[in-house]
Amino acid sequence: MSQRRLFVTTALPYANGNFHIGHIMEYIQADIWVRFQRMQGNEVHFVCADDAHGAPIMIAADKAGKTPQQFVADIAAGRKPYLDGFHIAFDNWHSTDAPENHELAQQIYRDLKANGLIETRTIEQFFDPEKSMFLPDRFIKGECPNCHAKDQYGDNCEVCSKVYSPTDLINPYSALSGAKPVLKQSEHFFFKLSDPRCLAFLDQWTQSGAVQPEVLNKISEWIEPGEDGKPKMGDWDISRDAPYFGIEIPDAPGKYFYVWLDAPVGYLASLKNWFGKTGRDFDAFMADPTTEQFHFIGKDIITFHTLFWPAMLHFSGRKTPNAVFVHGFLTVNNGEKMSKSRGTGLDPLKYLGLGMNPEWLRYYLAAKLSARNEDIDFNPDDFLARVNSDLIGKYINIASRAAGFIAKRFNGKLGEVSADGDNLIDHLQTAAPAITALYAEREYGKALREVMLLADRVNAYVDQNKPWELAKQEGMDGRLHDVCTACIEAFRLLTLYLKPVLPALATNVEAFLQVQPLQFSDASSLLGAGHGINAYQHLMQRVDVKQLDALFEPPPAPAVELTVPGGEPIADTITIDDFGKIDLRIAQIVNCEAVEGSTKLLRLTLDVGEGKTRNVFSGIASAYAPEDLVGKLTVMVANLAPRKMKFGVSEGMVLAASHADETEEPGIHILNPWPGAKPGMRVR
Ligand code: MSP
Ligand code: ZN
Repeated sequence: MSQRRLFVTTALPYANGNFHIGHIMEYIQADIWVRFQRMQGNEVHFVCADDAHGAPIMIAADKAGKTPQQFVADIAAGRKPYLDGFHIAFDNWHSTDAPENHELAQQIYRDLKANGLIETRTIEQFFDPEKSMFLPDRFIKGECPNCHAKDQYGDNCEVCSKVYSPTDLINPYSALSGAKPVLKQSEHFFFKLSDPRCLAFLDQWTQSGAVQPEVLNKISEWIEPGEDGKPKMGDWDISRDAPYFGIEIPDAPGKYFYVWLDAPVGYLASLKNWFGKTGRDFDAFMADPTTEQFHFIGKDIITFHTLFWPAMLHFSGRKTPNAVFVHGFLTVNNGEKMSKSRGTGLDPLKYLGLGMNPEWLRYYLAAKLSARNEDIDFNPDDFLARVNSDLIGKYINIASRAAGFIAKRFNGKLGEVSADGDNLIDHLQTAAPAITALYAEREYGKALREVMLLADRVNAYVDQNKPWELAKQEGMDGRLHDVCTACIEAFRLLTLYLKPVLPALATNVEAFLQVQPLQFSDASSLLGAGHGINAYQHLMQRVDVKQLDALFEPPPAPAVELTVPGGEPIADTITIDDFGKIDLRIAQIVNCEAVEGSTKLLRLTLDVGEGKTRNVFSGIASAYAPEDLVGKLTVMVANLAPRKMKFGVSEGMVLAASHADETEEPGIHILNPWPGAKPGMRVR
C-alpha cells in the first residue's frame, strides 16, 4: 500500500482561557485518528495553534492590564501540561498572531481580491464615544424591544429568545463603558460569498463527501434556494475598525481582518512554521495534489469550516479540505455541572492532579465516540464500569494471568501453540481489517466493542484451560506453556488494536514483550516460540471511586475575599495527601556563616536528628547576622531534592515568611517553633 500524506488539525482554541474538557475531547478524537494513520504507515502532520485575535481577547487583556500579546502568550504558556498529560501529540503548536499567519492571511486576501470577490460597503454601526471604538454586538446591551427585559445583549434576548439587531434595543448602552452608543458610518470589506461562482463551488464541494450527511443537511439551506427562492448565504463582513487586535488589511489603514478570517488560516501558518522548523517545503506539500487535508471541529463552528473556509481556499487558488469532521459536544453529568459557578464540571488538570490515568479518559471517550455529529455525556458510574470491567477486567488481566508463568516456569521464553490456541489467534488476526476500517471511519466506539469481543474470546479460552490449575498438575508443563503463550500472543494483538487509544500503555507493553513499536502490519505476524519476554509489571490500576468523588467535589469557595498582604493570592487547593508529600522537620541551626561571593545567602549547618548534619543555603542574609541564628530551632523541608548551587550542594530548605517581593517591608522572617520542640520532629 502506498503511503498517504495527511495534514490534520483540530480547531484553534481561543487564547482567552485554559482548556476545558470539551477541548480535550476534540484533541483526543483527532489524536487517536492521527496515531491510527501513523500505525498504517502514513505520513501525518498534526498541528494546532492558539486563536489569538478578536475584540473579546483585546478587551479581556485590557481588563487584565496586559497587552493582548502578553495576554495570549500567558495563555499559551499553560497549554503544555494538558497536551502532554493526555498524550495529545501535536507536531506543532503555533499562534494566529505569528508572522506566518499575517503573511498568509494577507496573501489569501490579495488573491481573493484579484479574483473579484472582495467589495467595500459603508455600513452603520454602534460606536462607543468614550472608548472610541465600534462595539461588537455582544458588547451592546439594553432593553429587549419585544418583552422589555432589561440588560439584554445586542444580538438576542435571553428572556424571550427574540433575535434582533443592536439598533432595535431600547436605551442601548455600551457594556464596556456604560456610555450611550452613537451610530457611526464606516467602510467595511466583504467577501462576496453570494457570488454565483461561490455558490456553485460550495454546492459541488459540500456534496463531494467532504462533510457528514447530517452536517450537509444543516448547511444546505445556505447554498440551495429556500422558500423565498434565495439561499441563506450573504456576503461576509470580513473587516473591523481599529482599535482591534488582529491582522491589518493590506492597503487599508486602520482596517483589520475579522478574527474568523485569519483564524483558519492559522492551520496553514502552523504547518508552515512546523515545516520551517523541520526543513521541509511547505509550498510544495500544499501544491501536491496527493496531499490530504482534514479538520476536526465541533458542531458550533460548522459554517465557518464547511462554507467560508473552503471558499476562501478555493478562490485564492489553494487546496481545499478533503473533509471536515464534525463532533458533538461533551457534557458532564448530563450538563448538570458544566456551569462555571458550580465548578467546571470535569477540570482536566484536576483529573491529572488526582493521579487519575489519562488513558482511562482516552478509553472512555473513545468508547463513546462515533463518526456522527452527536453529543456525548461523561457519566462517572459509566466511566468506572467501562474502565474497570472492560479495560482492566477484560484486557489487562489477560497479561497478568499468563505472564507470571512464562517468567517463573519457562525462563521468560514463549513456547509452541497447539491447534486450539492457533484457532484463537487466527480469530484475532482475522479481525484486523474490520477494526482498521472502523478506526479509519472514526467509529471508535464500534472498534473498541470489536476489540472487547475478542478479549472475551481470550478470557473464555483462559477459563477453559485454567493455567493456574495446570501449573499445579504433574506433567502438564507443556500444556501450561502452550496456553500461556497463546495468551501472550493474543495480548499482543489486542494491544496493537488498542494502541491508537492507549499509546503510553502500548509503549509499556512493547517493552514488556520486547518488540518494536507496533504497527497495523504486525497483525499478520506472531512473536513465535523462543521469543523472550520481560517479567510482567502491573500495567494499569483500576479506577478508585474515591478519585471520582474528589474529581466532582466542587472547589471550596474562598472563605473571605480578603486582600492578602503583599497582593499574593492563596495558591490552588491541595489535598491532605499532597501536603503529606512534604516532609517538614524541626531543625537546629548548629552553625551559620556568611557565604563568600554572595550578599544574599547564608550557609546553615542543620541537625534534623539524623546523626549527621545537613548543609543548607538560605537567602536570608539581608535579615540575619550569622551569629544570631546559631543554636536556634527552625523548620526545614527535609525531603527536598538536593540542589547543586554555585557554592555547594544545598540539602533542604528552611522556611521563612515574606511578601512576594522579599525586599518589601518588613522583610524576611524565619520560622521558629514554640519551646519544647526537638530536632527531627515532624511538622504536620
Ligand atoms: N477559536 C475558535 C475556532 C477557530 S478554528 C479556526 C473556537 N474556539 S473555542 O475554544 O471556542 O472552541 C474550540 C473547539 O472546542 C471547537 O471545535 C469547539 O466546538 C470545541 N468545543 C467547545 N466546547 C466543547 C464541548 N463541550 N464539547 C466538545 N467540543 C467543544 O471556536
Ligand atoms: Zn425579550
